[in-house]
Amino acid sequence: MASATEFELQYGAHNYHPLAVELTRGEGCYLWDTSGRRYLDMMSAYSAVSFGHSNPVLVNVLTRQAARLAITSRAFFTDQLGPFLKDLCEVTGMDRALPMNTGAEAVETAIKAARKWAYKVKNVPEGRAEIVVCDGNFAGRTTTIVGFSSEAQYRDGFGPFAPGFRSVPFGDAQALEAAITPHTAAFLVEPIQGEAGIIVPREGYLAECAAICRRHHVLLICDEVQTGLGRTGKLLASQHEGVRPDAITLGKALGGGLLPVSAFLARAEVMEVFQPGDHGSTFGGNPLGAAVGRAALKMLVDDRLAERAAQMGALLSEGLAQLESPMIRDIRGKGLLWGVDLDPRYASARKTCETLLRHGILSKDTHETVVRFAPPLVITAEQIASALAAIGQAFGELTRCAGDARSVKAEPVAA
Ligand SMILES: Cc1ncc(COP(=O)(O)O)c(C=O)c1O
Repeated sequence: MASATEFELQYGAHNYHPLAVELTRGEGCYLWDTSGRRYLDMMSAYSAVSFGHSNPVLVNVLTRQAARLAITSRAFFTDQLGPFLKDLCEVTGMDRALPMNTGAEAVETAIKAARKWAYKVKNVPEGRAEIVVCDGNFAGRTTTIVGFSSEAQYRDGFGPFAPGFRSVPFGDAQALEAAITPHTAAFLVEPIQGEAGIIVPREGYLAECAAICRRHHVLLICDEVQTGLGRTGKLLASQHEGVRPDAITLGKALGGGLLPVSAFLARAEVMEVFQPGDHGSTFGGNPLGAAVGRAALKMLVDDRLAERAAQMGALLSEGLAQLESPMIRDIRGKGLLWGVDLDPRYASARKTCETLLRHGILSKDTHETVVRFAPPLVITAEQIASALAAIGQAFGELTRCAGDARSVKAEPVAA
């Protein structure tokens, strides 16, 4: 009988290239495949599973709320949305929140808000608003968003694209200032670039960008879909630089690892540009997502998961450095968001992930040379130690294989 994987390959679009493992169950930091083998999840669904798989507290909130009231649309008030938005604003220090579902939708919301703010508040001539973004950005897969990507594959075949974006090198505050014109509405930036390969800008960069934006009356919008909610060791990654952006986007972990829940948050002056009918989503702000999102925020704060990410992240990054593997060119990250840049003479990132899989570690390559390690924030010191042992074994195996391959190649061919 055909397996679920075979059905997926036969009936699905091939827009992903998954590792050869068929998962069926998750609990905490572990996942199990259909043959019963257990893996340590060092990737957390691209940072969406911060609270661990099937977190019992969140599952309880989900099931109770699902049995009571799940979807109503925003045509009506519900008893769940208001308290969720209040908590979101209080936790992040923002004035207002607009709920959506996916990260890309939150970013689309940010783009619409920034443009409308430019026309209504900054008096940019209609149709001329510009948004500055960074080379290497990743903000999702809608046509507008891939239109301002610098990654050829994300754009290839999907044009024409929306105008109104300028891209500058990430980490270069002067380039931002040079790109600003009287028509610039916003600077949209990830505090740490995730999908680009966990790129951490130099210290002071975001604070300089914030000052430049203030000077030129340009909105600073931090895309914290991946870096937000404790992932980098602070509640928001922008807090590492003491920056309060004009607006932020959140997603991924906001759904507690159970549902897609995202939000665009902003200062009141920015959010007030939206009038009834300007923007919306059938599912955005639904009572089920609101209840789970609220419980996730509470857990994040009550269990001090941002601090935990900083502590566990130190163990992880120090342990990776102590491997002293010749394969490792660079270890980059903060909190529990790490990228290990590999020397391709030993193995590609893909091959490394395949080897890690055999050693019971789930991770994912990003680009050709970077393997990410971003486990759930609830990971324990013991689990990190066992992950490091397995990573050490996998890297040792790959290093030996590369050495053998080189010595075989170097041997003279027998006549
Ligand atoms: C910084 C950032 N913004 C936006 C997104 C898009 O989120 P989603 O895949 O939920 O649309 C991602 C996804 O990886 C992201 O890393």
